[in-house]
Amino acid sequence: MSKPSPAYPRCDATAAWAALHGHFEAHGRAFDLREAFARDPARFSAFSVQAPEVFADLSKNLLDTATLHFLLDLARECGLQAQRDAMLRGEPVNTTEGRAVLHTALRAPRGRGLHSKEVHAVLDAMLTYAEQVRADEDLTDIVNIGIGGSDLGPQMVVPALDAFAHHGKRLHFVSNVDASDITAVLRGLDPQRTLFIIASKTFTTQETMANAAVARDWFTQRGGTDVARHFVATTTNASAAAQFGIRTSFGFWDWVGGRYSLWSAIGLPIAIAVGAKNFQALLAGAHAMDRHFASAPLAQNLPVLLGLLDVWYRNFHRFTSRSVAPYHQGLARLPAYLQQLEMESNGKRVDKTGAALPFGTSPVVWGEAGTNGQHAYFQMLHQGTDVVPVEFIAVKTPSHAQPEMHAELQAGMHAVTHAGMYAHKHADKHANMHTQLLANCLAQSQALMQGKTAEQALNEKAPTAAPGLDPQVLAQHRSFPGNRPSTTLLLDALTPHSLGALIALYEHRVFTSGALWGINSFDQWGVELGKALCNQLLPRLASGDTSGLDASTAGLLQRLRG
Ligand code: F6P
Repeated sequence: MSKPSPAYPRCDATAAWAALHGHFEAHGRAFDLREAFARDPARFSAFSVQAPEVFADLSKNLLDTATLHFLLDLARECGLQAQRDAMLRGEPVNTTEGRAVLHTALRAPRGRGLHSKEVHAVLDAMLTYAEQVRADEDLTDIVNIGIGGSDLGPQMVVPALDAFAHHGKRLHFVSNVDASDITAVLRGLDPQRTLFIIASKTFTTQETMANAAVARDWFTQRGGTDVARHFVATTTNASAAAQFGIRTSFGFWDWVGGRYSLWSAIGLPIAIAVGAKNFQALLAGAHAMDRHFASAPLAQNLPVLLGLLDVWYRNFHRFTSRSVAPYHQGLARLPAYLQQLEMESNGKRVDKTGAALPFGTSPVVWGEAGTNGQHAYFQMLHQGTDVVPVEFIAVKTPSHAQPEMHAELQAGMHAVTHAGMYAHKHADKHANMHTQLLANCLAQSQALMQGKTAEQALNEKAPTAAPGLDPQVLAQHRSFPGNRPSTTLLLDALTPHSLGALIALYEHRVFTSGALWGINSFDQWGVELGKALCNQLLPRLASGDTSGLDASTAGLLQRLRG
């Protein structure tokens, strides 16, 4: 068989790539944000973009008009639009698995996307079921058992949309094959009041199957009889679910990647938490971003701009990681979700033809909700030896001020007095806290950019400094280099619609950098080797047979058995 030839030029084979190298040496390496703002009073408006639901300030990034110009040339030369259109048309862009990549079809309005009939048939059935569960007062606890893409999406979205949730239902997520995970969740649950969702695209994943078996045993041992009522599956493998004893299952298709699956039946926990209308709004928000990605000119196309920035930082500045700092407690799990989305998609070392890449791909994506991160690792961001671009996410109106939040209480007259009094009494304090949250967010990106010279530090008082310490030495410790880049994404409010748009923004941004790097962003062979070796080690842990193992693994195995 002949090797496939690349359908589109890889980034490093383009004229724009060479031009970017020259530009980086001449202007990029020594670019100074403070000077750039001083030179151009219109920099904020020149480098900010409004996409559906998301306003992005890119002005605190290490780029100028020329950088952007060359990056946009790079996108054109790599055939980014053609690659995007091929994905949206349902071509098998996941080449190593011969699959289309059509998570966008899951959020297209009825009759408008590919596979619309099948997609909406499952969606209708899934939402009807979700509403039944919401109305069923006997079911109070919903346990989603799944891992990776069958866990992280719903686990991230459910708390993010807590202001819209049915508070009579508690949602739990079990993923780890460490039994402590499910044990902690099952403690205190009543089998008659619990619904288990077994979420697995393949219905073969070791962790999920082990947890599902534990859940079923727990259910039957505690007198549960109606497995059909208390277990439901979301999977492409309905026959395996049926063999497990599950009667109700909601399907999806091989063209939905695990890490892109929250829009499919895998979103069932979200639909149960927030209801059909809000789930539809989540899909609609993502669809709005899909339209933007598909049609906005490249220079105003936010996912494209973010993907280009990622290439600029990874391949020219050689930054190896990016930190995500959502200043909204509901988005606390967003960094974990984005780790899978980006690192499983773009953590690749060969291009689509199998050729080894001579440049870096996925950065390490990591982070924590603000302000917590400030009191943990921001020290390193400000004064460490590595530059880490930071992505701040701020929400103008807090979730605790959204009218929907107290909707249920407001609906009942007997409850409204209490809720109203509570809301009134605490509104000022909550508003004040939100102002503090936003001020912290703005201050961090400002501090990263501005820095502080040793001279400035020398002129400041430092009451906690050691008495007698040389002021010059202290000033070195108290100075900040600054010129550290960040992007700020602003949402007006965290709603199902805006969250849908935000997640889709990230999906398309990952597509953009992957397309330029010439990699397949939609397979994940890198998780296979560990799985295979685990299966070989399982019987050895039982038998103690270490023959043929490397000395380290053999030694550890013996210690674990001893
Ligand atoms: O980690 C590998 C992976 O295949 C992910 O891509 C996927 O989201 C996860 O495992 C779970 O797979 P499944 O939904 O088939 O249980």
